[in-house]
Amino acid sequence: MKFRISEITAEETWPIRHKVMWPDMPFDFVKVENDHEGLHLGLFLDDKLSSIISVFKIGSSWQFRKFATLEEEQGKGLGSQLLKYVIDQAKLNDAELLWCNARKDKIGLYQKFKMMETDKTYVKGGIEFVVMELEL
Ligand SMILES: CC(C)(COP(=O)(O)OP(=O)(O)OC[C@H]1O[C@@H](n2cnc3c(N)ncnc32)[C@H](O)[C@@H]1OP(=O)(O)O)[C@@H](O)C(=O)NCCC(=O)NCCS
Repeated sequence: MKFRISEITAEETWPIRHKVMWPDMPFDFVKVENDHEGLHLGLFLDDKLSSIISVFKIGSSWQFRKFATLEEEQGKGLGSQLLKYVIDQAKLNDAELLWCNARKDKIGLYQKFKMMETDKTYVKGGIEFVVMELEL
């Protein structure tokens, strides 16, 4: 499997965010208010953008959002590679905390990366979320 991870623009993330995460919502729903302040990373599989993640930094606290892999490429380890990359980058840049609003059905995935569930939970768009974090 030949892949590379590189920085992409917010605009490049939008089609995958929409198709994978919120296909039933209007396209603009997937845009984040401060998207242009984020670090957007894409995993290219044979030059096809296949998995994306967006990182927003506030001081030494890094939040990742809008993590998605094209449906036909899911379950091949791409998302795990991308998440590992983000964790490595966070450590290299002296971040102290990495956190996300996790869809409840993805808790197991984040636990594999030693992220811990907090007691902060909420529901958005009919989906249950829990804040998960990793002290670095
Ligand atoms: C979450 C997501 C980004 C993971 O990306 P991915 O490229 O499938 O990740 P991986 O292949 O590394 O799989 C990670 C884990 O996800 C699970 N998984 C996700 N999709 C799967 C699929 N279609 N088939 C099998 N396992 C799947 C597996 O439990 C896997 O764990 P494993 O390594 O023990 O098998 C992807 O499933 C996705 O886009 N989901 C829809 C959007 C979403 O829920 N985003 C996260 C919001 S918190």
